[in-house]
Formats: sequence, C-alpha cells, structure tokens
Amino acid sequence: MVFVETLQKYNLHYPANVALICSMYEERINAMAAAWHTQLSHDPPLYGVSISPKRLTHDLILSSKEFTVNFIRYDQSRLASFVGKTSGRDIDKLNVFEINLTSGNKVKVPILSDCYAAYECKLVDFRRTGDHTFFIGLIVGVHYDPNAFTQVLNVQPTLYLGSDNYVTVDFSTKRVHDEKQVKDYLSKWVQGG
Ligand SMILES: Cc1cc2nc3c(=O)[nH]c(=O)nc-3n(C[C@H](O)[C@H](O)[C@H](O)COP(=O)(O)O)c2cc1C
Repeated sequence: MVFVETLQKYNLHYPANVALICSMYEERINAMAAAWHTQLSHDPPLYGVSISPKRLTHDLILSSKEFTVNFIRYDQSRLASFVGKTSGRDIDKLNVFEINLTSGNKVKVPILSDCYAAYECKLVDFRRTGDHTFFIGLIVGVHYDPNAFTQVLNVQPTLYLGSDNYVTVDFSTKRVHDEKQVKDYLSKWVQGG
C-alpha cells in the first residue's frame, strides 16, 4: 500500500450510486448529478446531499427549501453525465436533454418520470462542510417502480467511478448472508472459543 497524507480528489471510496437532484424555484426547474448523498435516519426519514455553492442547484434549494432525489438505471447513465457536466446557469437542461418530469405530490419540485425511485424532500437543515454545503432533507414522499424491486433492488443502477467512468452491478454475484448463517457462525465461535 502507498500512504499519502491527502489527495486532491479523494474518490477511493467509489463506486457511488448516482442520483439526479431536481430543484425548482418559482418557474425555474433544474437537475444535476450527485454522487455525494446518503440516508441519515429512518425515523424521521432523513436524506442528505452535499452540493457545492458553485451549482445552480445549491441556490435553488436554498430558495425553495425543497428538492427531489432521483435514482436512474444504468441505461440512463449518459443523462447523469449530461446534467453533471453542464450548469443550469448556462442552459435549460430540462429542454436541452429532453428530460420528462412528473409533478411531486408533497413538494413543488418535480421528479424524473423515467427514474426507478425518487424521494421528495423538504429541507430541514443545512451546514457548510468545507467547500460543499450539506443539505438535510426530510423525505415526505417516495415514488418507486414496483418492477424495480423484489424485496431488494432488481434493476441495474448507475454507479459512478469518478471522472467520466460509470459502471453497474452484476446480479449474478449476489449473495444472501442470512441470520441463520450468522447465528451458526457465532455459536461455533463461542463453543470453539
Ligand atoms: C456523476 C457525477 C456526480 C456528481 N456529484 C456531485 C455531488 O455530489 N455534489 C456536487 O456538488 N456536484 C456533483 N457533481 C457535479 C455537478 O453535477 C455539476 O457541477 C453540475 O453541472 C451542477 O449543475 P447546476 O449548476 O445546474 O446545479 C457531479 C457530477 C457528476 C458527473
């Protein structure tokens, strides 16, 4: 292993699931790609996303206090690249990339019609974290394609490797480590001591 104190861009923890963040203030709707997002709490259901102040999305979320988090299939990875490499400050991405939208139920911000799942979020908190702002949203509604889930995810998601690289999962590698397996292991460990 090589040790360095820091890297200019530390993406060694990738792959990361790509989400498209939709935002809207007054009549302005926008979408950007995000890899820095995470579940924070089951109860209340909180979801966080880290967004640079350079992004139009940053300002739209601060103004409207709402956003949606949209998860896309691997065959839509090009869209992630498109909306992740262009700014709504320069172009109207929804029109240029022909993105179809569906109205939100609990927020004014729409969701992507073609995503396999989406969270509607109301902003409950935010704080500056270094060169990004971490937005915390309360999930007030969830959309999902029932065909995309058979208990667990059953569609190929878009995963990001950094730079211009995308990948997905191969479900033939799926393993199920059930509770019995864990109990069996622990009992042997305790007995074998
Ligand atoms: C796959 C991918 C993931 C990205 N993840 C993030 C992220 O988590 N946070 C962020 O601030 N920018 C991220 N970006 C960059 C923004 O998507 C990009 O700057 C975009 O142009 C911002 O659009 P906007 O100005 O219309 O909001 C990512 C870009 C790509 C391609």
